[in-house]
Amino acid sequence: MSDTKRIAVIPGDGIGPEVTAVGVNVLQVVAEKHDLPLDFIWYDFGAERYLRDGVTLPQAAFEDFRDRYAAVYLGALGDPRVPDMAHARDILLGLRFRLDLYINLRPVKLLHPKLTPLRYKGPSDLDFVIFRENTEGLYVGVGGNFKKGTAEEIAVNEMICTRRGVERIIRAAFEYAKTCGNRRVGMRDKADVLQAADGLWQRVFKSVSHEYPEIKARHLYADVLAMELVRAPEEFDVIVTSNMFGDILSDLGAQLVGGLGLAPSGNIHPGRVSLFEPVHGSAPPLAGKDVANPLAMVLTGSQMLEHLGFKTQAAEIVRAVQVALDTGRVTRDLGGKLGTNACGEALCEFLARS
Ligand code: NAD
Ligand code: IPM
Ligand code: MN
Repeated sequence: MSDTKRIAVIPGDGIGPEVTAVGVNVLQVVAEKHDLPLDFIWYDFGAERYLRDGVTLPQAAFEDFRDRYAAVYLGALGDPRVPDMAHARDILLGLRFRLDLYINLRPVKLLHPKLTPLRYKGPSDLDFVIFRENTEGLYVGVGGNFKKGTAEEIAVNEMICTRRGVERIIRAAFEYAKTCGNRRVGMRDKADVLQAADGLWQRVFKSVSHEYPEIKARHLYADVLAMELVRAPEEFDVIVTSNMFGDILSDLGAQLVGGLGLAPSGNIHPGRVSLFEPVHGSAPPLAGKDVANPLAMVLTGSQMLEHLGFKTQAAEIVRAVQVALDTGRVTRDLGGKLGTNACGEALCEFLARS
């Protein structure tokens, strides 16, 4: 089929392979049911491969993803045998940077009232998205150690923010808000301390916000934003943030709606191949035990389908997850009794017959 969408599947490390197997099964059930032209191609990049033959992300695979694929669907990376994450720097950060996936879109949505630790808050209070800048900031790897291991050691990590980089993520957040009919965009910064970099963020936020007079633009210092997300999450629709603060705020957001086992994410450059992965990591202590919650990976699959234009099918997967939550057919982290596989099988059965 000429319009077949190729999806590169990278299960990765730790619980990655277990949750990826479930995620792909779910996508395949939905694809078969609706005759979606999806083609899954598996790649063994991760710690095991790196330790075996030194391969992280071969140039040929990178070029294939870039030129011939619609998306990459990645489980997780991180293995105690590779403490410096050398392989993940090439695979995960490498794809984010080299494919210029500047939007890390991390939705925070409460799918069942019992899942939030916040008293008196429900699904209508917890429904926002985080636009995390994904190609700059403290993640650029600029810096190093001087006199390493000595008493005089100096360690430097530079934070790089460019006007172009800051402007495009802020604009993406406003455009998203406009398209979705959202009323508010909040921006975090720490311009009181990081006067140069976050001063730039504040200035650009202000100037872009003037182009969207119908949207309420609000800037908050990052520490206050973290507090406000717990105190009054209903006051947020779209949050735009730098790379490192976005990393932290997205784990906070995940915990507000049931934990990392339920948090999806997309690494996006509109119009180009994009990468979808759960917010969680490889959770090494859970690996190989059939206990990891696969729902973050399943919801990530839904986010990927939506991005690829299959909106009704994406919504069908979210509904199936909601039914699993309603009926308690979930893993132990959510108070259920199912293993990873059984949780996935229950979802697939439901999707196949509904
Ligand atoms: P983690 O996200 O793997 O785990 C944090 C906590 O959440 C642990 O208690 C874990 O058991 C729990 N958890 C995570 N996912 C879960 C799931 N699906 N079901 C049930 N419980 C789940 O973070 P960590 O322990 O700090 O990091 C482990 C490794 O993963 C490190 O090497 C880290 O660098 C890496 N990491 C990778 C990614 C990624 O690939 N995108 C993201 C975060 C961390
Ligand atoms: C995430 C992860 C990554 C990040 C790590 C594994 C590099 O924590 O995707 O949230 O910091 O971006
Ligand atoms: Mn993270």
